[in-house]
Amino acid sequence: SKLVGLVGWRGMVGSVLIDRMQAEGDFDVIEPVFFSTSNAGGKAPAQAKVHTTLQDAHDIEALKKCDIVITAQGGDYTTEVFPKLRAAGWDGYWIDAASTLRMKDDAVIVLDPVNDDVIQRALAKGVKNYIGGNCTNSILLMGLGGLFKQGLVEWVSSMTYQAASGGGANHMRELLKGMGVVHDAVAEELRTPSSAILDIDRKVAATIREDVPTEFFGAPLAGGLIPWIDAQLDNGQSKEEWKGQAEVNKILDTASVIPVDGLCVRIGAMRCHSLALTLKLKKDLPLAEIESIIKAGNPWVKWVPNERAITVKELTPAAITGGLEVGVGRVRKLNMGPEYVSAFVIGDQLLWGAAEPLRRMLRILLA
Ligand code: HSE
Repeated sequence: SKLVGLVGWRGMVGSVLIDRMQAEGDFDVIEPVFFSTSNAGGKAPAQAKVHTTLQDAHDIEALKKCDIVITAQGGDYTTEVFPKLRAAGWDGYWIDAASTLRMKDDAVIVLDPVNDDVIQRALAKGVKNYIGGNCTNSILLMGLGGLFKQGLVEWVSSMTYQAASGGGANHMRELLKGMGVVHDAVAEELRTPSSAILDIDRKVAATIREDVPTEFFGAPLAGGLIPWIDAQLDNGQSKEEWKGQAEVNKILDTASVIPVDGLCVRIGAMRCHSLALTLKLKKDLPLAEIESIIKAGNPWVKWVPNERAITVKELTPAAITGGLEVGVGRVRKLNMGPEYVSAFVIGDQLLWGAAEPLRRMLRILLA
């Protein structure tokens, strides 16, 4: 079986990846080699049957032995190690969660339920670099890929509600600490039903301004939101917003660019990213047809009828978190005209947004 090097398996995305690989029996069909940036020589996890010692993740000779390398170690690692590995003549497949190589001409962004055709064409051409997409874009396309693949989307305005996990493990902890700090500030008043709500609110506002931790997010997230994600670009977009159009079109390998734009906002969810979308379709389709095209997109679409009771139950982080289903709901025609359609898409940012497309790419290579 193929020698598969695993790098960055201990981090958050890496741990989700290993769990999913375990659940799907991926370790039964590969020979895994675990690499480490900090603990080479240590004991590899139980999935390692042959190579039971951790290899040095910077050891090019050791990496070169692998047929396939999968990394969730992050962009700095990719920037440092990938060019050296290729320069040393390694011709294996590189599967990566980081954004470093995503937009390169010799790389494909992998999301096979949506772009298996693009992946197969690339494999036939000898492309060796397969990179996971930005989480928000992968979730958008897992939800509405059906409409895109049928060429029905003229443009999409994508307003996001992104979870703390997109920043990393520290960011998730900071959100929870902040929630605790806010609660602690008014715990006593909350125990007393007669406390005046505006007094509680005043205390909460002061706590959010002064005491909620901001080390990782740079601004208080608990009890609030942050309307900016990632770096600032010269054109006024955030880098996260820029990725929308660039990656969606690259994933789909579109012949002419579908405009995708909108504002990306961090909210206090743990690991579910959501998107409130306005789509301009190329024609006035009946809602029932739009529904069946979306549902036919892939088996993970969880269609939620545009009704209040089921929407507040099923189209929420509480319902979606930790699972592979991507919720799609709030689909209706907008006042702007019959081609204008709304949708709300929600998915687990660590699964389809990060780990799942990587392990599925591995399976494609093994097939
Ligand atoms: N950049 C994303 C976020 C996560 O901050 O939510 C990675 O795709």
